[in-house]
Amino acid sequence: MKVAIVGASGYAGGDLIRLLLTHPHAEVTLATSRKHAGQPIETVHPHLKGFTGLSFENPEPEQIDADVAFLAVPHTAAMNYVRKLLDRGIRVVDLSADYRLPKDVFERVYGVPHIDYFEAPYGIPELHRNEYRNTMFVSNPGCFPTGATLAAAPLARYAHTVIYDSKTGVSGAGDNPSATTHYPNVGDNVNPYKWTSHRHLAEMRLELSRLGSKATGYFTPHLVPVNRGILTTAHILLSEPLSQQEVERIYRDYYKDEYFVRLQFPMLAAVRGTNFCDIRVESEGHRVVAASAIDNLGKGASGQAIQNMNVMFGFDERDGLRGAGVLP
Ligand SMILES: NC(=O)c1ccc[n+]([C@@H]2O[C@H](COP(=O)([O-])OP(=O)(O)OC[C@H]3O[C@@H](n4cnc5c(N)ncnc54)[C@H](OP(=O)(O)O)[C@@H]3O)[C@@H](O)[C@H]2O)c1
Repeated sequence: MKVAIVGASGYAGGDLIRLLLTHPHAEVTLATSRKHAGQPIETVHPHLKGFTGLSFENPEPEQIDADVAFLAVPHTAAMNYVRKLLDRGIRVVDLSADYRLPKDVFERVYGVPHIDYFEAPYGIPELHRNEYRNTMFVSNPGCFPTGATLAAAPLARYAHTVIYDSKTGVSGAGDNPSATTHYPNVGDNVNPYKWTSHRHLAEMRLELSRLGSKATGYFTPHLVPVNRGILTTAHILLSEPLSQQEVERIYRDYYKDEYFVRLQFPMLAAVRGTNFCDIRVESEGHRVVAASAIDNLGKGASGQAIQNMNVMFGFDERDGLRGAGVLP
């Protein structure tokens, strides 16, 4: 199967190429970049030298030839590609935010008009896979909402309030340098940002309601000096208390068939480079603390995007995603 990666010079695009090297049914045949067109991909991704022979190209959307395209481009860029690919029978996994929210919510949260809206399935496979088997399109969730939602989902319908406190690595901001990601501002430092106004809160709240929860969600992210990973501590406030034994049973039952959710102490290093989400839960009665660890570029982006492609095409969900983490 031919795979096109639009935005292949970015962090998510690079990880898509890396992970797809081991996919039994898929081969990356097109890697796009406007700035690096004509250059071998190892000029940007030196770790991939010798694996593909690919060079970056900069085709018009109408010239893309593939069975499936991953859009690893910023929000608003993706919406220029989607229809042109779908019309030509190319299936699409969109890693951007363009199709994650209802149109009015997207326009309010992102402050731009949506020029080509349609309602799309939201791709957390553990929660929604039956909604997009065999579809042409899936919207890949944000990195924070993935780790946060998986941490809280089993208890969502028992909660009246869920407070997500996340620590993220710097690659979450993409490869464009900024003052926020400048090394002296990040290294040896930790700070909160967008304390009450991060765009991903809208996705988190939507997911709580999709899970049948009446809980109000709150979210504060923090930037920590690591390259990859998101650790989310979800404070789940309950009207009726639940014991440690009860919450452990609820989580075990909820995720009993899920390969990529492991119920164990969450550590960023243990999930680095993988599609796993590690979760541990502890109850003090009316407050349950559920902490999750994901790789923002793995389960938070490219890993989950490949898992979603596998769902759409009916492949084994683990294809291309069988590698273990890197510890220490
Ligand atoms: N980083 C993460 O942890 C993460 C997690 C979840 C979701 N995402 C989402 O995944 C997408 C990619 O993120 P990233 O971190 O990989 O970003 P990035 O490192 O900034 O890379 C963006 C890529 O898109 C290309 N691009 C930028 N503007 C474009 C345009 N108008 N048309 C076509 N190509 C364009 C860039 O190459 P050229 O400029 O050379 O064309 C580059 O290859 C974003 O929507 C992001 O929100 C990222």
